[in-house]
Amino acid sequence: MYKTKFISTGRAFPEKRITNEDLAKTVDTSDVWIQERTGIKARHVVDISKGESNSVLAYRASKNALQNAGLYPQDIDFILYATFTQDHPIPTNGCVLQEMLGAKRVGALDISAACSGFVYGVGLADALIRAGIYKHILLVGSDVLSPYTNWKDRGTCILFGDGAGAALLGRASESEESQIYSTHLYSDGSLKDFFTLQAGGSSLPLSHAVLDQNLHFMQMKGREIFKVAVRMLCDCAVEALEKNGFTIQDLDWLIPHQANLRIIEAVAKRLRFPMEKVIVNIEEYGNTSAATVPTALDEAVELKKIKRGDLVLMDVFGAGLTYGSALLRW
Ligand code: ACO
Repeated sequence: MYKTKFISTGRAFPEKRITNEDLAKTVDTSDVWIQERTGIKARHVVDISKGESNSVLAYRASKNALQNAGLYPQDIDFILYATFTQDHPIPTNGCVLQEMLGAKRVGALDISAACSGFVYGVGLADALIRAGIYKHILLVGSDVLSPYTNWKDRGTCILFGDGAGAALLGRASESEESQIYSTHLYSDGSLKDFFTLQAGGSSLPLSHAVLDQNLHFMQMKGREIFKVAVRMLCDCAVEALEKNGFTIQDLDWLIPHQANLRIIEAVAKRLRFPMEKVIVNIEEYGNTSAATVPTALDEAVELKKIKRGDLVLMDVFGAGLTYGSALLRW
């Protein structure tokens, strides 16, 4: 069995920035309310008229990750693309990205696990590399939520944004400290109604009636999600640490899904983990679904907060509901 390590990361956000003050001009909300309840100040959204899309962001993040690794598209053996907001139902975004990069003779697979998608991808990539099937996997977490946001609904439009993060994962040598220790991936479909995007699939295709009822937008039971999310994140963090014989004191950095700063603070408090060691980028970007963890990771690596040898825990939850964690030595 081989060991898997993160080789490099990259990220991309659209330029267009919407502040809380901008939103307060169109819905009944305020900068103070949004910051107090969520920790969010702004979000970035694609400009479709300028050709920006999920795959374009993913391409920019992937090029970044390749450059940071000193690798080329021909070095990639497989592409894993976590998203629930593909450019189109078909072709898959994995295929679109494969062509954009010019990667030859590689498999490409989209992973649909909403906000948990990137950490699900870490689990899959780790298994494929450990088993010796692939040497280098490009893992992307990219979501463009703005077209699925009801910009007239103050309960959801304040939360979401667009972005993409990418990582190259590869084999670690026996002597290397860097490695993924374990991943812990779960789902609870009984809570599927907490977060839905009902229309546009095969059971409820788009129609005028569907559009009139706003069923093509994300709908959410925020308060209910909040409660279960804190429990799920705490359980997955403890499980990953215990499984590998570590305690919370051993942990250098926690990278949680960025859905709400209050959720993150509640988790840190329950785990008795200092907020200074929690990687947070929600203030500037909001909830970018599968992109929150890889973009936060890339930023922290770039800022030299996370250094080689650090113990890092990724901890996520998302629609489905899906949830999970990944413990690694950077
Ligand atoms: N501005 C002003 N007031 C608002 C706003 C707003 N934007 N939104 C709601 N309110 C009002 C409500 O109408 C309510 O008023 P009322 O008391 O008169 O009825 C009051 O504020 C409190 O509403 P709550 O829903 O209880 O507010 P809460 O503190 O729970 O915050 C929030 C709402 C921010 C949505 C929070 O519940 C949350 O973040 N939940 C988690 C959401 C989440 O994680 N989503 C993503 C999961 S899946 C994924 O990531 C893809």
